[in-house]
Amino acid sequence: MKEELKKITKELQDQLEKVADISALNNFEKKYLGKKGELMLLLKKIGNLPETERKEIGQLANEIKTEIKRKLIETKEKLGGNIGAADKFFDATLPGTKIESGHLHPLTLVQRDLEKIFSSMGFMILDGPELESDYYNFEALNIPKSHPARDMQDTFYIEHKNKQGEYDMVMRTHTSNVQVRAMEKYGAPLRGVALGKIYRNEATDQRHEHTFYQIEGLMVDKDISIAHLMAVLREMFKRLFDQSANIRLRPGFFSFVEPGVEVEMSCLLCEGKGCPVCKRTGWVEMLGAGLVHPNVLRAGGIDPKKYSGFAFGTGIERLAMMKYGIDDIRLFNSGDLSFLSQFDS
Ligand code: PHE
Repeated sequence: MKEELKKITKELQDQLEKVADISALNNFEKKYLGKKGELMLLLKKIGNLPETERKEIGQLANEIKTEIKRKLIETKEKLGGNIGAADKFFDATLPGTKIESGHLHPLTLVQRDLEKIFSSMGFMILDGPELESDYYNFEALNIPKSHPARDMQDTFYIEHKNKQGEYDMVMRTHTSNVQVRAMEKYGAPLRGVALGKIYRNEATDQRHEHTFYQIEGLMVDKDISIAHLMAVLREMFKRLFDQSANIRLRPGFFSFVEPGVEVEMSCLLCEGKGCPVCKRTGWVEMLGAGLVHPNVLRAGGIDPKKYSGFAFGTGIERLAMMKYGIDDIRLFNSGDLSFLSQFDS
């Protein structure tokens, strides 16, 4: 049987080489590989062999069949014949090609985390315009005309003047523009966060961008104190970074809060031991916050005698840098796939 198989293989190969056109090839196929073809008849006999031989011969026969079919298709292709997809040699053992698909940007990931964290604490998600009036960005926030934050250095003013000839529209310099808008719309009590893009006329370096994202938090109710602020921030850090962080406050000045604080968090990268990210102090400055200034509550139509509130604001890039250990803010907008693909989940 083995000999017979070898003989017919040789014959098949010789014949196939002689095939010169498609019709000869079709005849060849019928003669040897058709249902009653010579090779097929021979293969049928394998079933009658004693079991000991059947396995070995069967394997050999299959190999021969596959090889002849492959050569046949090759010849067909060479002769210009049409080969259907089903005829093409397909090796099911080859690894598949990976289908490239998009994924979320790291800032979107952090943004979604934050929205989830704050929604679960009963905060609504607020929105506000990026092209903002001088009123909501500054005036309503108790930022007087002479305040350095209004300096042309920091603010992108739009070429639009009011009747008094003053520039009255800006690209918002912080998400705090949402504070008074939210108070006007919802009144007190109020809990909300606003996440979005902001603009600063600043030179770009490792830590600064002219366009970046902030999250603003605002809570107004009866007897709100710094303790409420600390509790909410602790919860935010714990859930965002998956570990508890220590928080400490330093006095800080923002016109729209009184008292104002700078919130520092124990450095998660070195666990407070001191590293380049925390400038060897063990603490990193994370956000600006404080109790909402009575003038701001009043601007929002809320009586400061009845209600108090806290507000905080920080850069989402800064949170993402801490969470993922990123040391250059410019990477976020670099479009660098070797950076971005690390966030493919
Ligand atoms: N708006 C401030 C900033 O952009 C942050 C801040 C928000 C401070 C709310 C206090 C209260 O730096």
